[in-house]
Amino acid sequence: MHEISSPTRGVPKIGLGKEFVWRHRWLPRAAAAASWLLFLTAFFWQRSEPLVLVSAATALLCSYAWGYSDRAFRLFFSPALTQFKREQYRDVWDSLAATRELATVSACGEREETGVRSSVESCVRNLRELARITAQDEVLEIGCGVGRVGRELATHSKSWTGCDVSARMLAYAEERLKGTENTRLVRLRRGGLREFKAGSFDVVFATNMLCHLDEIDRWRYVEEAFRVLRPGGRLSIDNVDLESDAGWKMFTNDALSFGEMERPPYMPRYSTAAEFLSYASRAGFGGVTAHKRSPLVFVIARKD
Ligand SMILES: C[S@@+](CC[C@H](N)C(=O)[O-])C[C@H]1O[C@@H](n2cnc3c(N)ncnc32)[C@H](O)[C@@H]1O
Repeated sequence: MHEISSPTRGVPKIGLGKEFVWRHRWLPRAAAAASWLLFLTAFFWQRSEPLVLVSAATALLCSYAWGYSDRAFRLFFSPALTQFKREQYRDVWDSLAATRELATVSACGEREETGVRSSVESCVRNLRELARITAQDEVLEIGCGVGRVGRELATHSKSWTGCDVSARMLAYAEERLKGTENTRLVRLRRGGLREFKAGSFDVVFATNMLCHLDEIDRWRYVEEAFRVLRPGGRLSIDNVDLESDAGWKMFTNDALSFGEMERPPYMPRYSTAAEFLSYASRAGFGGVTAHKRSPLVFVIARKD
């Protein structure tokens, strides 16, 4: 089954101009290389003084432009988005997924497909081990992004369903999941998991995602996970652990970078085990346990 509930319908399109600039972002680099070649040729073979001077000046100018172009591209394509509030999740994440590459960078920090695939290994290992995912399980991932985890996890479960608020993320997930038999993508149009009936899954998880939500929305998803799980079903949620040294370092780095600045709405907010343990037990889960895998903390819970 590769059933897509029209995630691409209504996908906001990236402007043609912006797309053109992004596709040609290699130009400053190529221009710098070509102008240095011209300078060396003029210098060693032709020895024509004006040409040597002009090519040296062009080479310096192009190198300067090359040096700044990466930063400029990042600023142009990853704007601060401070015009949005954190809770405008759809707008924020559609903007962060303006192109396929930016979508994968926003989802996992990787640009190339090989990087995306290798970035998922420890995540899948942790999930399989902690949530005890088997080939009989129907699994739901909340905030699935480009299907980084689903593509791998689908081979270890009966089915994997990925849901997300961002139509653009889902469009890239659809591309990446082509050819898989047991995956499904669902676009969340309203808050929570209203698109799913009660008792439809054996495992629900959210990875690398709750850090972008405020606390009320984190809690709502845990409550909703309880509803859509079957009896005996398991929940796995994770976040960077503020109580670990590595997590604390990430937090203090953010404090240094964003201390005086307006904070972008996608800036991660970390958790402690206590926060997630409270959500899970208050939602009605039993067997609630915390597992520290620095810099992350996982909370696993069972619907009895
Ligand atoms: C950092 S990405 C992680 C994607 C994926 N879990 C992974 O690890 O590759 C966060 C994802 O959460 C999605 N997201 C953000 N807010 C959401 C919300 N309120 N409900 C559902 N998904 C959301 C974003 O669109 C994005 O795809």
